[in-house]
Amino acid sequence: MHTPNPNRYDSPAFYRRCGRSGVRLPLISLGLWHNFGAVDSYENARAIARRAFDLGITCFDLANNYGPPDGSAEETLGKILRDDLGQWRDELIITTKAGYYMWPGPYGEWGSRKYLLSSLDQSLKRMGLPYVDIFYSHRPDPDTPLEETMGALDSAVRSGKALYAGLSNYPPAETARAAKILRDLGTPCLIHQPRYSMLDRWVEPQLLATLEAEGIGATVFSPLAKGLLTDRYFKGIPSDSRIAKDQRFLRPEHVTDEVIAKTKKLNDLAHSRGQTLAQMALAWVLRHKVVTSALIGASKVQQVDDCVGAVKNLNFSAEELALIETILAK
Ligand SMILES: NC(=O)c1ccc[n+]([C@@H]2O[C@H](COP(=O)([O-])OP(=O)(O)OC[C@H]3O[C@@H](n4cnc5c(N)ncnc54)[C@H](OP(=O)(O)O)[C@@H]3O)[C@@H](O)[C@H]2O)c1
Repeated sequence: MHTPNPNRYDSPAFYRRCGRSGVRLPLISLGLWHNFGAVDSYENARAIARRAFDLGITCFDLANNYGPPDGSAEETLGKILRDDLGQWRDELIITTKAGYYMWPGPYGEWGSRKYLLSSLDQSLKRMGLPYVDIFYSHRPDPDTPLEETMGALDSAVRSGKALYAGLSNYPPAETARAAKILRDLGTPCLIHQPRYSMLDRWVEPQLLATLEAEGIGATVFSPLAKGLLTDRYFKGIPSDSRIAKDQRFLRPEHVTDEVIAKTKKLNDLAHSRGQTLAQMALAWVLRHKVVTSALIGASKVQQVDDCVGAVKNLNFSAEELALIETILAK
């Protein structure tokens, strides 16, 4: 077992209440989408998880299909719990999701009750856990009645296999409908997990206001645009970067001259604030109080250190915000 840093909870401001709930989440959460699969170094994954916990990161985000191969990130987390962190299970928020393709046949993806509840059982088995803290519907299903998908989340909570229900990638109107169904069932929606960064602002026109009105917190994923909102690609594509290792979601063509020109200007502004670009990008999503947590990924322990350092300066002057808008608009 790992001996955790005794000072990991010394900063109460590092935790923000999640919507209208009893739960506070760390401003920075750790996602296990990349770098925790069976193809990755276990010792590196383990070191990242331990450092995160030592820095006060209590929330580890998973999904059934994280790997590769699918499911292996949950197995890695199970091993980390057995080797290092299991003794502190009550200090951890462990999440999982179901929605994307997991197994062949008609019951292996989307939003049926059949798929969601079978998938949750499989996830618990892979992690060696009796329950997760948050079980998410990973994406809306256009062909399954929302009542059925939300009913499955409610059942997961009532069965004790999940403590809270969450939505991910739901647009505003469906979020409001889902929230009402869950409320009527007696299992309020705790949290929504949408993508949000300086380079992808789809949540701003409506979703954030919907979440605020519904009393739902937000944990925003890919706040660093998968690495583009860092200095990672300023000098080409490093051999240890996500693009070099796994081109399923981030590819060389995403590193355009336009993106690099913008991010270099943002980098200058970040330095004038005494921050790295990654830190400023995280502070920027956290400027909305409805954003409970910025959900990062990391391939190295030092990246976790750097990201957590973002919370030292979460304030932006009106001039800085205006300059960011100007840079992003170009
Ligand atoms: N609900 C959903 O549909 C959904 C979808 C996607 C993700 N997620 C969740 O969100 C989590 C985060 O997603 P993400 O990994 O795309 O997030 P991200 O934080 O935008 O990108 C993480 C990548 O940025 C780079 N990085 C991180 N910190 C850095 C730093 N301080 N300096 C320089 N580079 C840094 C690393 O790239 P290198 O690997 O190149 O070093 C790292 O792998 C996932 O693990 C998952 O839990 C959810």
